[in-house]
Amino acid sequence: MSGRFGIIGCGYVGSAVAVHLRRLGHEVVGTTTSPGRLGELCDVVDHPRIYSAGDPMADVSFLDRLDGVLIAMAPTTATFEEDQYQKVYGQSVPALVDALRHRSGQNPLHVSYLSSAGVYGDQSGAICNELTPPDCSSSANALLASAESAVLALNDASTQACVLRLGGIYGPGKDIPSFIRSAAGQSVRKNGNHINAWVHLQDIIRGVEFALDKRLQGIYNLVDDLQFTRRQLSNALCDDHGLPPVIWDNHDRPGARIFNARVSNARLREIGFQPSIPSMLEPVAA
Ligand SMILES: NC(=O)c1ccc[n+]([C@@H]2O[C@H](COP(=O)([O-])OP(=O)(O)OC[C@H]3O[C@@H](n4cnc5c(N)ncnc54)[C@H](OP(=O)(O)O)[C@@H]3O)[C@@H](O)[C@H]2O)c1
Repeated sequence: MSGRFGIIGCGYVGSAVAVHLRRLGHEVVGTTTSPGRLGELCDVVDHPRIYSAGDPMADVSFLDRLDGVLIAMAPTTATFEEDQYQKVYGQSVPALVDALRHRSGQNPLHVSYLSSAGVYGDQSGAICNELTPPDCSSSANALLASAESAVLALNDASTQACVLRLGGIYGPGKDIPSFIRSAAGQSVRKNGNHINAWVHLQDIIRGVEFALDKRLQGIYNLVDDLQFTRRQLSNALCDDHGLPPVIWDNHDRPGARIFNARVSNARLREIGFQPSIPSMLEPVAA
């Protein structure tokens, strides 16, 4: 069913979801914090807006008439910087939640919030699912988990909210296989025995559409099927191209944020969603 859909944070994922939902007939409102990106947004959404969640002067009236919202905000820094994480997950997400709670429209609303499977942190490589408590020993994970809780607290008679925990994203413009192969024969100072989780952009788009259609509530892992260690993954990618292996550490760097978990996507599968791209080792249909 088409409706009016808001995308808070039209970055890599938000913009791709916007294009898809418009094709399905939704009217899409999309936001950026940067006036310089407004022109770019005109190509992907019907109604581009400047919006910075957490800015007390922000005009939030565009939230009033929405039927669905995707929260796809992320810190703009590539590496973990605590003040940026604190700003986005500790302040901006709760401020947006507050604005959604107090919106004046009465439309039933569905909210999908993009979080990270990284919240499972160090599970010593064990299988984990949505019932596994996040590893909040790292401050980044504690912030991510608190933002998830803030969003889930929106669930009430008129609002349904879900959290989609994404694996590391690969897809057009994020060619992780080539990036990994570019380290062939070199030392990388990360623990090669750790298992990470991944997901293709195409499956995030499908997952957001699925969440909206099914009006999902609660937490869902949106990850592909691959549960390889970094070393297994790089070996597979390099062998495939006749390249020497990447040389990983066998230990953790002091203070490093650890992600070592086999993240299960069984919960989504049980309700009928399966990744169209099982792993980055599979060719992607054009
Ligand atoms: N990248 C990954 O591998 C990965 C892995 C797991 C989970 N995720 C999650 O996936 C989501 C989307 O990631 P992405 O790669 O699409 O991120 P991205 O390309 O960096 O886009 C982030 C968007 O958030 C906006 N934003 C930042 N602070 C904001 C604020 N205070 N108020 C409103 N908007 C704000 C940015 O605005 P501007 O347009 O002004 O820059 C940008 O549009 C994020 O929630 C991220 O945590 C990503």
